[in-house]
Amino acid sequence: MRNRIEVMHGVNLDQLVRRSPDHYGAMSFDELERKIAGFGVELGLETRFFQTNHEGEFVEHLHKLEGLADAVVLNPGSWTHYSYAIRDALELAGLPAAEVHLSDVDSREEWRHKSVIRELCVTRVAGKGAAGYREALESLRAELAE
Ligand code: DQA
Repeated sequence: MRNRIEVMHGVNLDQLVRRSPDHYGAMSFDELERKIAGFGVELGLETRFFQTNHEGEFVEHLHKLEGLADAVVLNPGSWTHYSYAIRDALELAGLPAAEVHLSDVDSREEWRHKSVIRELCVTRVAGKGAAGYREALESLRAELAE
């Protein structure tokens, strides 16, 4: 059964409690990861977590996913908007991917509207907080079941 989901967070997401609660809510990063793990259990998915503030580490983690994960949920933080290095690494990982943002990026500053990974993802969920990850996991589960 293909049910191994890698959940990858990028730059500044480990600092969630210090960021604007209007955009990100009051949850800590640990709480967020625990919530996502709980969604995984409910959905029969095995989740594994990775976070880094270093773009090269994010890229190298994507390089290593082959054979270790069946799909990936990613919230690369601001890298989403400009990192073609991450875009290329995601493409070569060749896994079904879901893009998630806690905040509603489309109603924030103009520069947050662009995503360089969007076209590689089966779904994109933004502005739904932690619940957005559940939606992303559901989409990936459906994708893997096909
Ligand atoms: C974010 C949105 C990005 O624009 C921002 O740079 C982040 C977090 C989100 O989860 O809403 O760091 O990806």
